[in-house]
Amino acid sequence: MRYVSLGEVPAKRHSQVWRDNGARRLLVEEVLGYEGFSGNESILYHLGSPCRIDQIGEFRTLDRDAWLPDAHVHRLADTGPIEPAGDPLSGRRALMFNGDIEVSICKPVEPMAGFYRNGEGDEVIYVHRGRGTVHTVFGSVEYRERDYVVIPRGTTHRWEPSDDEQYWLCFHTPGEIETPSRYRNRYGQLLEHAPYSQRDFHPPSELETFEEQGEYELTVRVRGGLQTYLLDRHPFDVVGWDGYVYPYTFNALDFEPRAGRFHLPPPTHQTFQGPNFVICTFAPRMLDWDETSVPLPYHHSNIQSEEVMFYAEGNYAARKGVNIGSITLHPSGLPHGPQPGAVEKALGAKHTNELAVMWDTFRPLEMTAVWREHDNPAYAYSWNEDKTLTPSLDEEEGASVVTGPSA
Ligand SMILES: [Fe+2]
Repeated sequence: MRYVSLGEVPAKRHSQVWRDNGARRLLVEEVLGYEGFSGNESILYHLGSPCRIDQIGEFRTLDRDAWLPDAHVHRLADTGPIEPAGDPLSGRRALMFNGDIEVSICKPVEPMAGFYRNGEGDEVIYVHRGRGTVHTVFGSVEYRERDYVVIPRGTTHRWEPSDDEQYWLCFHTPGEIETPSRYRNRYGQLLEHAPYSQRDFHPPSELETFEEQGEYELTVRVRGGLQTYLLDRHPFDVVGWDGYVYPYTFNALDFEPRAGRFHLPPPTHQTFQGPNFVICTFAPRMLDWDETSVPLPYHHSNIQSEEVMFYAEGNYAARKGVNIGSITLHPSGLPHGPQPGAVEKALGAKHTNELAVMWDTFRPLEMTAVWREHDNPAYAYSWNEDKTLTPSLDEEEGASVVTGPSA
C-alpha cells in the first residue's frame, strides 16, 4: 500500500498535539500496526482514549457448523437461493473454512446497529450486488458492485448499504491480505507489468470525526467469537491519521487481464494473497489468439490446492449446472478441466465476458451445513455424458441425489 494521510497530523510522531475546543487537552495517539512494530502501520490521533469502554458485554462463540461430506468429489453449490437475512455482520453464513481462510455469503437486509472490528483477521468483501458506504475510523469508503473492499484487522467500522439488494462474498483470514510481491519493486511501488496500478486502489476519501456522547455498541471478533462492549463515546473520534494501513476498495473491472498466444495459467489472474491462499480475478478478456490454441483451461491436478470459483457475471451455459452466484469446489487429489464438449465449442472464440472470483487454498477446506444445504451432488458426475445433471431432492433427508443416467 502507499502512504496516505487524512486530517490533522503533527509534523513529528509522538509529539504533543493540543486541541482547544472549550477545554485545552492533549490528543491521544494510537499506533495501529502489524507484526509488532516491524510491519506496516498507521498512526491515528483520537480526541479520547480508544481503550475506554462503558460496559463489558457478552462473548459469543462463532459456530461455523462444519459438515463432513461422506464422499470426496468435485462440488457445486448455488448461492443464489440463499435467503437474505441479518445485518452486515450477523448475516454472514460461512460456506467453507480452514486455518487460513473463512468464506461466507452475506445478503444483509437489516441496518447495522453498532460498530464492528475484526480483532483477529483481515477481511475482503467482494460486492457481487449492492452499493453503499463503509464508515470507518479512518474515514468513509464508498463501495459499488464488483468492488473488493479490503478491511485491515483493527479497523472499527460500520456498513451502510444504500441499495436494497446486497449480496457479498466475505473472506476472513487470520493472516494479512496483500498484493503479490512479484507485482512490486524493491521500494514497494507497483511495477509497470502489474495487472493494476496504485490509481486503482481507493483509500478513505473523507474523515468523519464525531465528538459525541451516547450509547454505542461495539462488536469485536476475537478468539473465535464475538465480544461486545458498550461505549459512551462515539468510536470515530479521529482528527487525523497517516500511514500504510487503512481500508480500501479495488474494483474487479480495474484488473487488467492478461492473455497469451496460448493459454496462461491462473496465477496470471492473481489479485491478492494471504497465508496459504490466493484470490484471483477472472475479468472479461481477449482469449488466446494462436489459430491452434485451445482457449479453455487444460485439465489439471493441482495436487496441493483446493480451487474454488465464484461465478459473478457472464454466460455459463457451457458449464453444466452453473449459474451466476454458483460456486464450484475442485478439491485436491482430483484432476479437473472443461466438461465434455466444452473445448470443441470454445474453439475459435476470441473473447470472454465472464467475470469470476477464484480462491485457491493450499490446505484442505472444511465445508459447512450452509454448503450442504445448497450442495448439488450431481456435479461430480458432470464429466460423464451418460449421467443426467438434474438432481432430485430427497425431502426427508434434505439432500440432493442424482437421478441416474440420462436417456
Ligand atoms: Fe482449475
